[in-house]
Amino acid sequence: MERTNSKRLDSFELTIADIAEADLDALHALSMSVGWPHRAEDWQIVLELGKGIVARDAIGRVLGSAMWFNYAPDFTNIGMVITSPRLQMLGAGQWMMNHVLAQTSSRAIGLNATRLARRLYASLGFVAERTVYQCNGEAVAPPQGLLPPGARLRALTSDDLDEIAALDRAAYRADRSHVLARLLEVSKGVALVRGERIVAFSLCRRFGRGHLIGPLVAANDDDAIAVTRPHVVDHAGTFLRLDTRQKSGAFAEFVAQAGLPVYDTVTSMSLGRPWLVEETGGETPIIYALVAQALG
Ligand SMILES: CC(C)(COP(=O)(O)OP(=O)(O)OC[C@H]1O[C@@H](n2cnc3c(N)ncnc32)[C@H](O)[C@@H]1OP(=O)(O)O)[C@@H](O)C(=O)NCCC(=O)NCCS
Repeated sequence: MERTNSKRLDSFELTIADIAEADLDALHALSMSVGWPHRAEDWQIVLELGKGIVARDAIGRVLGSAMWFNYAPDFTNIGMVITSPRLQMLGAGQWMMNHVLAQTSSRAIGLNATRLARRLYASLGFVAERTVYQCNGEAVAPPQGLLPPGARLRALTSDDLDEIAALDRAAYRADRSHVLARLLEVSKGVALVRGERIVAFSLCRRFGRGHLIGPLVAANDDDAIAVTRPHVVDHAGTFLRLDTRQKSGAFAEFVAQAGLPVYDTVTSMSLGRPWLVEETGGETPIIYALVAQALG
């Protein structure tokens, strides 16, 4: 495994540095160079939540990035892997990934791979598991729908953190409390309540070109639709995005009818052990929408 601290690529001499020391504007410019919609504020949040590296050239310019988010002692999620277009296909991606894998040591890993990155990860031993459908577009207010029997909707507050973190943990099978705590500060949240218990929730925040719904955790399509509808109504006529692994069924149909067709796909891949269980719905909560492709 190649893991030296500097590497000559074509005419580029790259060195690895901690992403925490990188300039936010340089990271923002890097993601824009590959057509990603992240705003500087979106970068700020991932930087607060994870660790990472950048690849710099001889005069300090940031030409690559990679991050990892340690959600459990035995599990991490990798994201924000980018190499500048003028540097692609020269081995920088693989070189950065080898640095990341050295840092994440024995942890099992999950990530969502773009088409461009899939072969790179496969060559490192990652196994493809599921497709993620990136659905976005101009939101269309859906017809009013009935709530599932015995359920009511209410707004989430920061007091709900423990309860939604437990629901998210049951679905994601790692603790993302710190992620949810940070997202609650910048999101509008909706809970579906049965009795006194939150059985489904969704957050919606500004991201990229508009707003993004995620995470969304629910046990079945009807509950998932109930916590999605209010955000679609709120953002009707504007750009809205949701990343889901639901290919078909009532939820997927609802998302398409809400003006959010499938725009692109990425592939959830894992290293070390299988990441995603078969999501059948029913009683067990599942991840209906991702926090972000980088954050799982
Ligand atoms: C995906 C991405 C990070 C890959 O980075 P990269 O620096 O091009 O990666 P590498 O050069 O290490 O490897 C890419 C391919 O080039 C090949 N390659 C490496 N060195 C090469 C060389 N000297 N000549 C020709 N091909 C070469 C690699 O074998 C690899 O192909 P393979 O995976 O089929 O084996 C980069 O394309 C990118 O930033 N894309 C846009 C953002 C994105 O999609 N990020 C992924 C998020 S999951």
